[in-house]
Amino acid sequence: MAGDSLTAPQQISTLESSDFLADVIAGLSSSPRTLPCKYFYDERGAMLFQKICELPEYYITRTEIDILDRNRTEIASQLGPNVELIGLGTGAGTKTRILVEALMDPAVYIPVDISEKQLRESTALFQKIFPDLEILPVCADYLQPVVLPTPNHKPARNVVYFPGSTIGNFEPNEAMEFLRRIANVCRENGGLLIGVDLKKDQDVIEAAYNDRAGITAQFNLNLLAHMNREVGADFDLDQWRHRAIYNSSAGRIEMYLISEVDQFVYLDEHKFHFRRGEKITTEYSYKYAPEGFAALAGKAGFEFVRMWTDNARLFGVFYFMVTT
Ligand code: AVI
Repeated sequence: MAGDSLTAPQQISTLESSDFLADVIAGLSSSPRTLPCKYFYDERGAMLFQKICELPEYYITRTEIDILDRNRTEIASQLGPNVELIGLGTGAGTKTRILVEALMDPAVYIPVDISEKQLRESTALFQKIFPDLEILPVCADYLQPVVLPTPNHKPARNVVYFPGSTIGNFEPNEAMEFLRRIANVCRENGGLLIGVDLKKDQDVIEAAYNDRAGITAQFNLNLLAHMNREVGADFDLDQWRHRAIYNSSAGRIEMYLISEVDQFVYLDEHKFHFRRGEKITTEYSYKYAPEGFAALAGKAGFEFVRMWTDNARLFGVFYFMVTT
């Protein structure tokens, strides 16, 4: 499948920029002020996110794993034998491992991940556990154009796997464009298996992003430390606090850094003034109703096949097939 590509369309150019400094200046100069959430993930940020996934309040990771675990046989028979599995941002591969173990004679596994270290480690682990499986790792930012490798054996179909509800960190129009790009990668009978956090009680959602141990606060504040180190900003971390609120009309968690005092921050040639109580938006995390997400994917060229969920309907693992 040489030439198959996850090429980002021009419309989502903000996601294509890899220029940290330019992104920070643009975000802090805009009104309201924002910072792109992709910059959370320096080494410490990735470690803190791992801790978040294990927090008692953060139901997302364990619920998704539980859904996969309980429904692995059904999911595998839905995907069918001899599948080419393309994993986007699959990280350490905990969820993918459950899936691959259940798949019937998978043809090839193509993990696409930006972290070279994690990709190398998870590939080595998968090679050990699945010695007969062809694994073709691609170290790339899947938000940028990515050319996928050609497997040795011709698969029956290709399926993109996008776990973790990372789709929730896109604005809905960006999510649709991204799903459209995935649909373009899918060949005949190709599919998309995607984890999506569902709408639920506001208190449950807010607790997940305002954990009592303060790990999400550290994760959010670490963005300032990342900017100080990488682009030479002089944020004083003690003068900022974390806050996450659920905006029920927009259906999203909004994560902020709030200035505790009236202050200036210097960066490059720029001097940014922050009033006491002024906010920088650092992340949106959209929650979807099952029908709403199916409709969004429908606009991107996918037909809803089915959704697996937990008893409390906290999280959904959706399977879509590309419309012909
Ligand atoms: C990666 N992403 C799905 C997480 C989320 O829940 O939106 C990022 C996160 N931010 C704070 N906690 C977790």
